[in-house]
Amino acid sequence: MTTTSTSSQIDHLLDETRRFAPTAAFAQNAVGSADLYTQAANDREGFWADQARELVHWHTPFEQVLDWSNPPFAKWFADGELNVAYNCLDRHVEAGNGDRVALLWEGEPGDERRVTYAELTDEVKRVANVLTGLGVGRGDRVAIYLPMIPEAVAAMLAVARLGAVHSVVFGGFSADSLRARIDDAGAKVVITADGGYRKGKVSPLKPAVDQALADRNGQGVQQTVQHVLVVRRGENDVDWTDGRDIWWHDAVPAASADHTAEAFPAENPLFILYTSGTTGKPKGILHTSGGYLTQAAYTNRVVHDLHPESDVYWCTADIGWITGHTYVTYGPLANGATQVLFEGTPDSPHPGRWWEIIEKYKVSIFYTAPTAIRSFMKTGRAVPQSFDLSSIRVLGSVGEPINPEAWMWYREIIGADAAPIVDTWWQTETGAIMISALPGVTEAKPGSAQVPLPGISVDVVDDAGTHVGNGNGGLLVITEPWPSMLRGIWGDPDRFVETYWEKFQDQGYYFAGDGARLDDDGDVWLLGRVDDVMNVSGHRLSTAEIESSLVAHEATAEAAVVGASDDTTGQAVVAFVILKQSYLDAHSPEGLAQALRSWVGEQIGPIARPRDVYIVGELPKTRSGKIMRRLLRDVAEGREVGDTTTLADTAVMSVISAQVK
Ligand code: PRX
Repeated sequence: MTTTSTSSQIDHLLDETRRFAPTAAFAQNAVGSADLYTQAANDREGFWADQARELVHWHTPFEQVLDWSNPPFAKWFADGELNVAYNCLDRHVEAGNGDRVALLWEGEPGDERRVTYAELTDEVKRVANVLTGLGVGRGDRVAIYLPMIPEAVAAMLAVARLGAVHSVVFGGFSADSLRARIDDAGAKVVITADGGYRKGKVSPLKPAVDQALADRNGQGVQQTVQHVLVVRRGENDVDWTDGRDIWWHDAVPAASADHTAEAFPAENPLFILYTSGTTGKPKGILHTSGGYLTQAAYTNRVVHDLHPESDVYWCTADIGWITGHTYVTYGPLANGATQVLFEGTPDSPHPGRWWEIIEKYKVSIFYTAPTAIRSFMKTGRAVPQSFDLSSIRVLGSVGEPINPEAWMWYREIIGADAAPIVDTWWQTETGAIMISALPGVTEAKPGSAQVPLPGISVDVVDDAGTHVGNGNGGLLVITEPWPSMLRGIWGDPDRFVETYWEKFQDQGYYFAGDGARLDDDGDVWLLGRVDDVMNVSGHRLSTAEIESSLVAHEATAEAAVVGASDDTTGQAVVAFVILKQSYLDAHSPEGLAQALRSWVGEQIGPIARPRDVYIVGELPKTRSGKIMRRLLRDVAEGREVGDTTTLADTAVMSVISAQVK
């Protein structure tokens, strides 16, 4: 076989020609405008300084914008001082907006709470006083392990208010994962709840904290945690350690609601958030204050087209992920938005729960993930169509490439064929959105994240760091520092440099780990992680691209593709496909598998035709909904299946293995 492309070129084989321009009316009222691109291009740092001055209150104004004298360790607005919580709370109250609702909270059982900016400010001041009493001060780490309840947002802001550092751990993580994160950060206090509601049941949290702090597996008793502050949510029994454990409902209401927000330097650490890398040890991604808040507020405004006085905004992410940090807590609250906060899952107690919430609260901006959209496609359009979704005017997507089929469904069924969709590319590491359409400016292309935001510079390059040119694929890099960039990996500066900066150290580019291609207009199409890129007969193919083609077939509900090693072609394409029930009833699985192979061959090209198509009933997903291709690769290569502990449902792999056999 001859190698026809260089190692980092990805063959562009899909062609999407549909285009959707914003309406004149939308464009006229949009927050973002085309001149932002010109302003930022003329003076990038000046542009960010303007955003920081306009969107953030500085106790001490900054003079310095970017300090890049010690790359890749950036400082933004370093001589300025601010208080992040003051920016998200007090200043709105002082501006006369204390009665505006900050949180429209809906619990899974259907209980609800409306929390105004004045009330949330009051609560955060009390919590800050409680934490001070527990010895938390500037720079101390506090772990937060809570369900999606208003206290979760209040806890994050109270920690931020003290200049301390939070490490939110997703409530679905196990005691071991929690322990590893508490240990790595050296947390002094843990804020948790007895439990949270999930699919009609209380899912316990405090017991996991107890386990994480106890002597287990010979790890020794956890030493750094001095106190556990416990919210009562689930009404379930919990064990109690006197002297260490404190009920939120005892301590917080009893604390004073007087608390003056102190100013901290812009580079004061704000949070650590753990994310998985290529090794088994999670990386503690570190974010700081002024630059992060600036880009969070700016992107939430221009990308989501947020009009805080009139919109009802809903980002469905859990606060345990970066999306929940930036687009539930910091961005919307810094902007004074009114937002929905929902404790439960999309399909409980009925498959229309999300749409019911949109109808009930008249949500106008809705931000969610492609995996959710595809699972709704599977259930069928009748469910959302039985609710009034006419309040929606902007739709957003985040977390993975959105295939054009899902994009079109989202637009037609959820957005009434009118709401602009913004497909937003970013990472835990980037802190905020980097590549996205502006809803009132950009002519949207289904499936493409499109353009770097004003103020952001990206490129697609080959392995040597050379721009690939339009029509070609390669590796996504960020070519200039940005305000909300990670400042490091907690406790591991070497890993920070190695993981993100070494590959293109000559150019000084940040290596995102994603494959991408530039179309003929220079727009960016994300192709998935480069670890998910296959090399078949010297052609590089993206798993995302083949999955998109499979999902575009009318028989397919969901698909995952992996590259399995193959003696002849280097790697071979192996697809795992969930079919719609109606097709399974009417056709043989062999016939359908064959039809799908041919389909992909026709859609993309013979090189992309899967060697094997396995019809399965489920796919292995993490709790955040990402497909674990590594496990599918094990099955495809006939190996023993590896570690399944991070799966949402650990039994799935044995079912798949049996089906494949
Ligand atoms: O591969 C990209 C994918 O998600 C990765 C980042 O994951 P995480 O840090 O968990 O953050 C997710 C939420 C921001 C990226 O490296 N990704 C994220 N957004 C998109 C995406 N891939 C394609 N299109 C997107 N819009």
